Amino acid sequence: MEKINRFIAVLEAKYRKKTKKSRSLYDRAQKVMVRGGSHTLRLWAPYPFFMARAKGPYVCDIDGNTYIDYWQGHYANILGHNPAVLKKEFERFDPEGGSLHTGFEGESQVRLAELLLKQLGYRDYKVRFTTSGTLATMYAVMLAQAHTGRQGILKIGGGWHGASPYLLKAVKYYPKRGFVQGESAGVPEGILRNTHATRFDDPDDLEKIVRAKGDKLACFILEPFLGVGGFLAASKEYLQRARRLTEEYGIILIFDEIISGFRFCPSGIQKLYGIEPDLSTFGKLIGGGHAVSAVAGRAEILDGSRAKSKQRVLFEGGTFSSHPQYMRAGYVMLKYLVEHAATVYPRLALAGDLLRKRVEDVFVAEGIEARCTGYGNAVIRGSSLYMVNFPLKKMDYESAEDVWNPATSNMRLKEEILKLALLTEDIHVVHGGGAISTAHEDRHLDRTVAGYAEAARLFKKYLF
Ligand SMILES: Cc1ncc(COP(=O)(O)O)c(C=O)c1O
Repeated sequence: MEKINRFIAVLEAKYRKKTKKSRSLYDRAQKVMVRGGSHTLRLWAPYPFFMARAKGPYVCDIDGNTYIDYWQGHYANILGHNPAVLKKEFERFDPEGGSLHTGFEGESQVRLAELLLKQLGYRDYKVRFTTSGTLATMYAVMLAQAHTGRQGILKIGGGWHGASPYLLKAVKYYPKRGFVQGESAGVPEGILRNTHATRFDDPDDLEKIVRAKGDKLACFILEPFLGVGGFLAASKEYLQRARRLTEEYGIILIFDEIISGFRFCPSGIQKLYGIEPDLSTFGKLIGGGHAVSAVAGRAEILDGSRAKSKQRVLFEGGTFSSHPQYMRAGYVMLKYLVEHAATVYPRLALAGDLLRKRVEDVFVAEGIEARCTGYGNAVIRGSSLYMVNFPLKKMDYESAEDVWNPATSNMRLKEEILKLALLTEDIHVVHGGGAISTAHEDRHLDRTVAGYAEAARLFKKYLF
């Protein structure tokens, strides 16, 4: 403990020296905002830097520091911050008054819906837009409940689907108990009782739960590529088993593609697996950096939100639903990805594979075991997402339990100390890594590896 605290003090001193203006803004923010900000992940210790502007791979703070950023708008940016293709569009759009909120239906949402459904390529599918991933997954669950007349929800232990009461269970890992608790006050008892968790990519565990509770389950919601739970790709066999079992029991299969949608190919990752879920949720990059999310799926389920439906879900829409600027941005972004798929995706996959390997190597060079997650598999040829983990014993990272159990992986090193060490190297990561964008060129990746190498050297000097 002594050693760790001394090391943190050294890192903090360096960080404080270069972020004095951020420190005083943070003091001001704390007086008026809960914990001094609006998102827990942005409020790291000892205090966050405050952003002045961002471009491509870079984010600049109000103290004049420039960081290479792998958070990239909560993984929403695949072309980097403020990409030229979007800026150009808005210069054209703004003079027409197009970006102000209108409160009417507009053409760009139709274009975005058409493109999204074309890329999914199913028959009898529809889409409804809303404004956050949280809302999209919440509505997907409610539609599944209405369609099946059941209340039960099955999710992945460690799966994060946003902060609606429906899905705030089995998110955080509790030593001894694992992913079983409801993590938030205010979630109705009934929801907690009816929500169950299964281990990611474990077909036998899934089969056991479905055979036991299947006739009470409305839906099974999961990310085919587990996101915040650990950046892990499901095997094809697992998703096939999930599809078979859910069909057998009449359970609605929901793929939450809020991170994976359009990140691995110009569609949902489901197309790579060749598995068609009943409902899918999209968000993050489908809005080109704006608040857009979508529930897409079988029309007969989505039609549950129609006025005439017997089991009606009041998925009515909100003030900012299909905001014209957001829809325009989303359309431009998806169109770009569809048209440039042949270059964007192989490049990102290769960059991810190289970066993960090189990061592991710089730690090995100092005699420290570091393991990246985010690798592809037989279906997904590489990925642009990565986390860095520090195993406390010999192990493979296969599910969220492996990634988030403090008894097997060193959480403090990953979440707190590596973050601070890299900030002093002008690199910004979350969970040890993040998302590579097309704006991250070789020189940025080389600089990043050098930053990790320096962090590894300091780890060795102070901790090992
Ligand atoms: C897989 C997944 N689903 C849902 C959400 C919630 O999205 P939002 O933050 O837009 O509410 C997130 C957010 O990180 C996510 O990663």
